[in-house]
Amino acid sequence: MPKLKIGVAGAPRGASFLAGMHSYQDRAEIAAVYEPDRRAREEFTAETGVPALEHYAELLERVDAVIVASPQHHHVPQAVAALERGIHVLSEVPAAVSLEQARQLLATVRCSDAVYMLAENYCYSRPNLIVGAMAKAGVFGELYFGEGEYLHEMKSWHTDPTGAPTWRHFWQVGRSGNSYPTHSVGPLLQWFNDRIVAVSCVGSGRHTDPEHEIDDTVILLARTSHQALLNIRLDLLSNRPHLMDYYSLQGTAGAYEAPRADGQEPRVYLLGKSPAERWQPLEDYADEFLPQRYREVAEGAGHWGADTFPVRDFIDAVIEGTPPPLDVYAALDMSLPGIVSEASFYQGGAWVAVPNPRLWDAGVGTEPGKEAPLA
Ligand SMILES: NC(=O)c1ccc[n+]([C@@H]2O[C@H](COP(=O)([O-])OP(=O)(O)OC[C@H]3O[C@@H](n4cnc5c(N)ncnc54)[C@H](O)[C@@H]3O)[C@@H](O)[C@H]2O)c1
Repeated sequence: MPKLKIGVAGAPRGASFLAGMHSYQDRAEIAAVYEPDRRAREEFTAETGVPALEHYAELLERVDAVIVASPQHHHVPQAVAALERGIHVLSEVPAAVSLEQARQLLATVRCSDAVYMLAENYCYSRPNLIVGAMAKAGVFGELYFGEGEYLHEMKSWHTDPTGAPTWRHFWQVGRSGNSYPTHSVGPLLQWFNDRIVAVSCVGSGRHTDPEHEIDDTVILLARTSHQALLNIRLDLLSNRPHLMDYYSLQGTAGAYEAPRADGQEPRVYLLGKSPAERWQPLEDYADEFLPQRYREVAEGAGHWGADTFPVRDFIDAVIEGTPPPLDVYAALDMSLPGIVSEASFYQGGAWVAVPNPRLWDAGVGTEPGKEAPLA
């Protein structure tokens, strides 16, 4: 079978997909990278031997699929350009940065025969996969509360060595609300098998680095379609050790808590199974619940090995013609709460509805679109 030819847009983050791809080299190969910055192009080619191109259109001429790993405001324009040519897309997070982009993406996916998938790698970390399988099996009972926190002090990333603002200066810390929601929201929505219907967003004010529009800490409260409550914290500025993957969940029959610091372990409490009022290591349940296909991480894969899996699932979906695990609806369910949170923030935390993209008519026209089932 001919190998899938994959191109990458954006060299730095693009490189992090290589470990997963190498471990799947019988199915796919990287054909080229598009990167506008000359130095980044040269570094990528020197390290990987892969040709680096100066123009995105040239990349699309050479590939069957593209990994969009560019700054986040480019994800939709680049995904649309690819999908319109029947080129499959694995997109970095978030899926879109505005409602207009979200509608355009949906319309294009509905009209294209190519696969679109979101590379939300935090859905693929070992603890998150185990918890997801346990939640699916019902061991936590009915889920009604969850937390997600992404605390990542990134002040040095907001300007380049000359002091000029990078894309993050506007798209991550130059806006109010939750500008980077998917790492926290994504796994929770997978576990809850649900979507967010409304958000209320407030902030701590600007104390640490007041030149930026975003508050130091931003809290997003979210109500899901099944009436569960989610509490999401984003902090890109405060002086503290990183904590990018904190989650918890509470159900009628048990609870889960991720570690908050080095040396701690992910832990669960299951009514009737765990000793009374005592936590157990989540790992006690790994053998029973961790899906076989996610047991072996690729050598060198980042984000605790989680970067192995989005690209593998994407390649399988394209080759086997199966639905990708994180399709356009999942992608928008994870991204829209952040987009809408800005409006809530400016109304002092008023509850604002999060649109259901399944009900948008973008791209449907007079013929039925390729609807995904409602979660
Ligand atoms: N899933 C994750 O864990 C994770 C981690 C890091 C970054 N990201 C996402 O990956 C994307 C890139 O982040 P990064 O950390 O590599 O940023 P970065 O600032 O380190 O690098 C961005 C690169 O993109 C290049 N670029 C600029 N415009 C481009 C365009 N139109 N097309 C292609 N490349 C372009 C720049 O020259 C630069 O080399 C962002 O969307 C970010 O949100 C995700």
